[in-house]
Parts: sequence; structure tokens; C-alpha cells
Amino acid sequence: CKRKEKAAVVSQEQIAENIYSMWIQTEEISDFAVPGQFISMYTEDQSKLLPRPISLCEIDREKKRLRVVYRVTGKGTGTEQFSRLRPGESIQILGPLGNGFPMEPGTGKKVCLIGGGIGVPPMLELSKQLYAEKQLVMGYRDELFLTEEFEKNGTLYIATEDGSAGTPGNVMDAIAQKGLSPEVIYACGPAPMLRAVKSYAEEKHIPCYVSMEERMACGVGACLACVCRTPEIDAHSQVHNKRVCKDGPVFLSTEVEI
Ligand code: FAD
Ligand code: FES
Repeated sequence: CKRKEKAAVVSQEQIAENIYSMWIQTEEISDFAVPGQFISMYTEDQSKLLPRPISLCEIDREKKRLRVVYRVTGKGTGTEQFSRLRPGESIQILGPLGNGFPMEPGTGKKVCLIGGGIGVPPMLELSKQLYAEKQLVMGYRDELFLTEEFEKNGTLYIATEDGSAGTPGNVMDAIAQKGLSPEVIYACGPAPMLRAVKSYAEEKHIPCYVSMEERMACGVGACLACVCRTPEIDAHSQVHNKRVCKDGPVFLSTEVEI
């Protein structure tokens, strides 16, 4: 049910250094969106043809609004252009894209939702919608964001690389320090974090769903720019690659090589 829409900006707020939160008014995209999906956001600049994939941080079906929380990666970038949009201005978006997190495996269980860096935002809508005993483990370099929202939806554990809040170190250090023992894991974050979470889950023999980040072009499964490797080999000894944009971005950790 993906569609292209011109969405109106409802609000734009800087919530940490280089991190912005934007609510947009959609026509229909929010009706179908689920946690873990993303939208492709287009810039006005003709020199930047490719859209930017950004995860859904919150979905407000009633008001038909979506929230994205994104990092401005540098000067002259598409994300910097997004941060200049003001309420009332509009932005082209395509979505909802990707598969989203499966809810059923975690329902009623003791689950750990793990977010790292710019992988933190998609865990917010998941924490709101998942009916489970939720341990929310969020890892930051230094400055925190979205923590008040997370506290409303589960028990929050923080890790910071500079040791300024919570457990000093990364999300795995927080899990060890707090003695957490989840039955199911959902995670989104940088590759080294996902690699550590995947090996922890496989050691403990628990299901673990990881949301992967790959550079994308079309965002809809047509160009193969975003493939990741899987351990599967077919009858012709060919390695099976998966498209992060269409087959993912969420995969069972045992299905992908990170
Ligand atoms: P530019 O340097 O102008 O980008 C140049 C090109 O490279 C663009 O086509 C851009 O899309 C692509 N590109 C550059 N870095 C990345 C990257 N890390 N991943 C994918 N494409 C990249 N970031 C957030 O801040 N918040 C999110 O919620 C978020 N969710 C994401 C969900 C998915 C499924 C993916 C794949 C990425 C997500 N990202 C998110 C990363 C975000 O897409 C990039 O930071 C962004 O595209 C960079 O664009 P730019 O205009 O700042 O940089
Ligand atoms: Fe084109 Fe994934 S970005 S197939």
C-alpha cells in the first residue's frame, strides 16, 4: 500500500545536537504504517535525486501524522535541508516502506528493545505498540534524546559512551551490568552494535530481530543497491542476498550476516 504524498510539516524541533524531530501530516501513509517501517524523504534540490530513508519514530493514526527523528549528517546534505523546513511547508515522501517489526514473537514475553545512536527513534513506536514486559536499552554517545517518552512505555536503561548517564559503555555493557535476561530481542543501531546483539542472542538461543541500515537508492526493491548477505546458499551454490529496503529492514538475526 505504499504511496507518494506531499506531506505538510506540522512541527520541527531540535532535540539534541544535530538531532531534529519533525511531525508531518499525511493523507494516507500513516493509515498503513507499522513500527519498524520507514519513509523515503525527498529534497527539493534537483542535484539530490535520491530520497533519504528515515524510520518512523511515532505513528499517530488518529491525526494521520508521522514523526521522524533524524540526524543532520553535515553541511549541504539532504538532512540539513529537512531541518530547515518550517511548519506549513511541504515535503515529498514515499511510504510506508519495508516490512516492520513482527509483533507476535514478543507479545506477552520479557522483551529487550535495544536502540543505538540514530537507531533509537524507531524503538519508540515499537515500545508503544508492543504488549510485553519491556526493557528498553538505549545507547548514546553523549547527549540523550527521547528518554522521557521511553520512560512512559517500559523500564529504561541507558548506556553512554562518555559515561555521562546510565551505564558507561555500550548497550551490551548495560545488559550485563543490569543483569537483564530477555526472551526476545528487537534491535536497531549501527552495524557493530547489531553484530554484538546478534552474537549475544545466538549464544542465549533467543529470537532476535535486527533492523539493518544500508545505503539505498530506489528504496522499493528495484535496484539492488541495498543488498546484504545471508547465510543461505541455493541449489546452484549461489549466495542469497536480501534487499534491506524490501525484504527488510527488519530480519531475524540468523537470516543475515552483519
Ligand atoms: P548525504 O551525504 O547528502 O547523502 C548522500 C546519499 O547517501 C543519499 O542518497 C543518502 O540517502 C545516502 N546515505 C548516506 N548515508 C546513509 C545511511 N547511513 N544510510 C542510508 N543511506 C545513506 N537516519 C536518521 O537520522 N534517522 C532515522 O530514523 C533513520 N532511519 C533509517 C532507516 C533506514 C531503513 C535506513 C537505510 C537509514 C536510516 N537512516 C536514519 C540513515 C539516513 O538515511 C542517512 O543518514 C541519510 O540518508 C543521510 O542523508 P544526508 O542527506 O544527510 O547525507
Ligand atoms: Fe533499490 Fe533496495 S534501494 S533495491
